[in-house]
Amino acid sequence: MKNLIVFGPPGAGKGTFSAIIQQILPNIVHISTGDILRKNIKKKTFLGLKAEEYMNRGELVPDQVVIDMIREKLKKPKVQKYGFILDGFPRTLDQAKALSDITKIDLFLLLEVPRDVIKKRILGRFSCSECGWLYNIYTLQPKEKIGKNKWICDNCGAEIEFQQRDDDTEETLEKRLDVYEENSKPIIIYYENKGILKRVYAQNTLDLSEEEIKEIIEVENTTSPSCLS
Ligand code: AP5
Repeated sequence: MKNLIVFGPPGAGKGTFSAIIQQILPNIVHISTGDILRKNIKKKTFLGLKAEEYMNRGELVPDQVVIDMIREKLKKPKVQKYGFILDGFPRTLDQAKALSDITKIDLFLLLEVPRDVIKKRILGRFSCSECGWLYNIYTLQPKEKIGKNKWICDNCGAEIEFQQRDDDTEETLEKRLDVYEENSKPIIIYYENKGILKRVYAQNTLDLSEEEIKEIIEVENTTSPSCLS
């Protein structure tokens, strides 16, 4: 069982890297606060209505709202049994401290990527509306194109179109990056002091081999001796 945090600026590839980790640890539960909040906005729940304004402005949703949300998620039996990847949480030092009161974290992965790369990733991002698989118009299009800005999802076979997230505009991105700059440093220091921080060069996460990913997430290689030459 592993309890991981995948941390980094908007567009660093937290969601994408979490999906890569899940290929190695299929039972681990991926908890993305951004995805949970977007689902609530879509369903027009009380939580969604509360969060929408903050998100569209590129600001953080109030701490207590997301802390309560995470506390509930971490109680789920599958999470308790197989562990989790937290993507998008914590985002403030208070959230990090609240998390320490709830559970133990094994590894804090800090994804590092240059600012000019971030812009292209955010403005080119789209996802499958059926399964949520992430793509990028510049760097990672689905394999099968069926029309102008229309593809078949590699993961679930659904038809998908290029459609940006509401907060993936140039203006909101600047605000999100500022919010990250303001809040990230104390969080990074907090986990560095706990001795569990690992920096990951996130420009080529799509090209990492299984062995390299296992090394990053500190999972042992279980290749049987008979396979070794
Ligand atoms: P959230 O959804 O968490 O947004 P974010 O942190 O801005 O991160 P993103 O989802 O934009 O990017 P990512 O790092 O996951 O990158 P991705 O893998 O998609 O949060 C949204 C909002 O919700 C916040 O602004 C806030 O308002 C609110 N919120 C959420 N959590 C909160 C909290 N804890 N407290 C308070 N408020 C909270 O990749 C991006 C693109 O790049 C994709 O197109 C992908 O295909 C591409 N890509 C990724 N990796 C690579 C690679 N190696 N090579 C080429 N392309 C790549």
